[in-house]
Amino acid sequence: VKRRSTDQDIARFFDEKVGCCSTPADARSHPLKERMTRAFEDALLAEGVAGKSVLELGCGEGRLTRRLVRAGAVRATGLDLSANAVAAARRGAQEDGLADRVAFHTGNAAEAALEPHDIVVHNRVICCYEDPEELLANSLPAARSVYAYTIPRTDGVWAALTRVGTVFENADHRLHRRGFRVFVHDPRGVRRAVEAAGFRLKRRGTSLGWLIAIYARSQPQE
Ligand SMILES: C[S@@+](CC[C@H](N)C(=O)[O-])C[C@H]1O[C@@H](n2cnc3c(N)ncnc32)[C@H](O)[C@@H]1O
Repeated sequence: VKRRSTDQDIARFFDEKVGCCSTPADARSHPLKERMTRAFEDALLAEGVAGKSVLELGCGEGRLTRRLVRAGAVRATGLDLSANAVAAARRGAQEDGLADRVAFHTGNAAEAALEPHDIVVHNRVICCYEDPEELLANSLPAARSVYAYTIPRTDGVWAALTRVGTVFENADHRLHRRGFRVFVHDPRGVRRAVEAAGFRLKRRGTSLGWLIAIYARSQPQE
């Protein structure tokens, strides 16, 4: 099935956002997103990253990747469809003196060959991609021990709020003739796929409209 929002649509949209979309650059204009991202980072740090390798999918400008390395992750890889975001992430790693421990690449996390890492994370990515099954099927096997993500909530009142927000956002994309779209995916379907791959829930949190989920493999892989 042909996707409505192609890799090029996603890359073009986020290429133009570099320096203004990715946290923390937009922390002041999007304090709620910033709060959610901080809560996700804190949950990952509480889970423990020291000595672990990390793979961040849809890493944007690499803030989370760099924070986890500063917190003791032994090495990290970031992957994003936006070449501009990847270039910014590399610059950030240079500035932070982390270039020898992190690598950023351009590619589609749902299709690229992903090297196994201890921890696989994605923050605010699944709602930018039309086919979550493909994204999960390709990335779950790359997680040796922890798989963590954030996804917009659809429980209770959030079912309507998330859908309305998505309709407005996509109307804006249409108005500006962008191919990029955001999608509402059922977090329960994502949870089923993660559990079917051998993970169990370790931490779950919410930050307003976002669900934060951290899973660990029942049997960590070598
Ligand atoms: C909303 S931004 C979030 C960026 C970063 N995770 C953060 O929290 O600042 C979503 C990012 O995911 C990337 N993205 C979306 N689908 C992707 C895919 N299938 N593979 C790789 N990157 C993807 C976009 O290019 C964009 O940089």
